[in-house]
Amino acid sequence: MTIDLTVNGQPRRFAGDPRTPLIDLLREDLRLTGAKAVCREGFCGTCTVLVDGQPVPACLRPVGLLAGAEITTVEGLAPQGDLNPVQRAFLDHDVVQCGMCFSGMVVTLTALLHRNTAPTRAEVKAALTGNMCRCTGYERIVDAVLSLAPADPPTEAAR
Ligand code: FES
Ligand code: FES
Repeated sequence: MTIDLTVNGQPRRFAGDPRTPLIDLLREDLRLTGAKAVCREGFCGTCTVLVDGQPVPACLRPVGLLAGAEITTVEGLAPQGDLNPVQRAFLDHDVVQCGMCFSGMVVTLTALLHRNTAPTRAEVKAALTGNMCRCTGYERIVDAVLSLAPADPPTEAAR
């Protein structure tokens, strides 16, 4: 079966078993190794990528269901070797330890900031329910994201 889709702005053609998980197409065929495959069951979020702008676990998406889809991986969020704002904030707040969760977190949080430029602490935590980190603890991750909000964001009580 042949599937045409777009990955990080580039047209790509997949020829093979349509049940192949998107994470395997990305990591094994395209050598985009930012997204990680840890649990392969949809629990950990290390494989998170954007499909048509929405963060999804790439381990659970068969390529056969993605004809015409626009896929964005963490590599596509930081073209030309730059860091995107979430990555920069993670570094500035010493968030990253082992790094296994890093790519999925960056994808999820970048999508959050695209739809909500001034999230509350509760909204950041809610966005991260599908992304596990077993090293850093979530408070520093949330602090990093909130540092990217505008200078005078609405208060939790006001939202
Ligand atoms: S590897 Fe996909 S959610 Fe864990
Ligand atoms: S930094 Fe190790 S799992 Fe998050």
